[in-house]
Amino acid sequence: MSSDAQVQQSNEAWGSRLGLILAMAGNAVGLGNFLRFPGQAAANGGGSFMITYFIAFLLLGIPLMWIEWGIGRNGGRFRKGHIPGMFAAIWKHPAAKYFGVVGLVIPLVVLIYYVVLISWTLAFTWFSITGDYWGNTTQETMSAYLTSFQVIGDGTAHDFWVPFVFFFISLFLTIWILSRGISAGIEKLAIVGMPLLFVFAVVLAVRVFFLPAGPDGSTALQGFEFIFKPDLSRLGDVNVWLASAGQIFFTLSVGMGTLQCYASYLSTRDDIALSGVATAATNETAEVVLGGSIAIPAAVTFFGVAGAMTVAQSGSFNLGFVAMPIVFQGMPFGQFFGALWFGLLFIAGLTSSVAMATPIVAFFREEFGVRREVVAWTVGAIALAFGVLTILWFEYGFLWEWDYWAGTFGLAVMAFFEVILFMWIFKPENAWRSLHLGADIRIPAVFRFVMTFVTPLYLGIVLLWWLFTQAIPILTLKGGAAAGGAIAPGAEMYVHLSRLLIVGFIVFFLVMIRMAWKRNGYDDRAGFREIEDTPLGRTVA
Ligand code: PHE
Repeated sequence: MSSDAQVQQSNEAWGSRLGLILAMAGNAVGLGNFLRFPGQAAANGGGSFMITYFIAFLLLGIPLMWIEWGIGRNGGRFRKGHIPGMFAAIWKHPAAKYFGVVGLVIPLVVLIYYVVLISWTLAFTWFSITGDYWGNTTQETMSAYLTSFQVIGDGTAHDFWVPFVFFFISLFLTIWILSRGISAGIEKLAIVGMPLLFVFAVVLAVRVFFLPAGPDGSTALQGFEFIFKPDLSRLGDVNVWLASAGQIFFTLSVGMGTLQCYASYLSTRDDIALSGVATAATNETAEVVLGGSIAIPAAVTFFGVAGAMTVAQSGSFNLGFVAMPIVFQGMPFGQFFGALWFGLLFIAGLTSSVAMATPIVAFFREEFGVRREVVAWTVGAIALAFGVLTILWFEYGFLWEWDYWAGTFGLAVMAFFEVILFMWIFKPENAWRSLHLGADIRIPAVFRFVMTFVTPLYLGIVLLWWLFTQAIPILTLKGGAAAGGAIAPGAEMYVHLSRLLIVGFIVFFLVMIRMAWKRNGYDDRAGFREIEDTPLGRTVA
């Protein structure tokens, strides 16, 4: 049992329901919606991808959204904002907490490389305002411009220190907001950032819609057709199914530990059933309606459908960082629209990056009594050190390797643990009752069936398929880099190192979990002591 002093220390709450929804949506809406989604859709056959994507949304996304809100709020009953505690609250077994290690390692690793990614968007906002990339109007020259920014030592367009400056600024902002806490930091940012983001996105989508036909006569409309016209031709390709499941996870922030942490600051008198779907719906609007209406149609007017697909396949973010800048250079007020695009990405990224370390903050506050600011700035220092390595070793695929293990594979593993714990160990009756405490809607009963059987089966198949067809080649580096593509010459060492670092984080957090349980004298079989409820939060018992 934890002492009262500790419980008091770790009190956090949301300011309002609207603030909570905006923060949850801010968490979910990120680079995934405006960069990763169009890139994945274009690289995986457009209309085919959208079908598998929609199925994954219904059978994985929405169910897991509810499961995570449920697990999170249930953890909050015992003042547990972190996954090891939440798992232990459901499964009264000594092993439960150790499974929860994924909920500390994944957000830490993702935080580190995600801040590097948002620092690119900040840099390109600046380069748009100053017109720095103007003149690079072909795919070759614009790619070279981007590469010179990403790869340290390629000084053709940028000095080596430039990426670091933007990284420091992005990291500083992230940690500063995080250190101010849930309502004074994260919620405030979301209340300002989210409406702004939607305005930016609508303006851009409308502008793209009215783009004149490109050099080869292609129009934005053809771009829309490419993604929104159902196409059955690639439904037999397992990779399309995997890519869409991966996208659903990443974009909804499912399988990370952050949604659960946010939900832990709610009480059993607050609704989570409606809020959960509202968050998912907001994210999908931002992704499919807005994210789908900007980068792909714009790229298609310029490069045609086939050309846009090639750009998307040439690198994860090349639609956003290569194709879009070329389009801006050809339009009136291009610098303004360029700044709007990259500014939008930066805001979307920041409202997500501030979420990532929240489970780690919760863990050290609740279990070790460390002050929030201290944990936040310590995480910042760690992210700084590893972020610098991520930038230095970008050319060896270091960032994409982390994205693969933590940001793709890890999410499916965590989601699998969660669905088993919540639907099978906690049992469907309890899960269902828990989701409906304080609920403003009743969840359609069919979802009880989906969540109990379909979601775990779907996840199980995905993981088994991975194990049998990809695990060996990827682990032995025979099948190329995990993130796809060949391993750059001389990069093997960095690939191994990036994996080893993740193993190191796992070991570190396992030890921390063990120490926390010892220190607080928790009895795994007896469970934690419950605390009292008030709407939008919990107070000290
Ligand atoms: N969902 C975010 C995006 O689309 C990424 C994210 C993952 C944010 C995990 C928070 C936690 O970019």
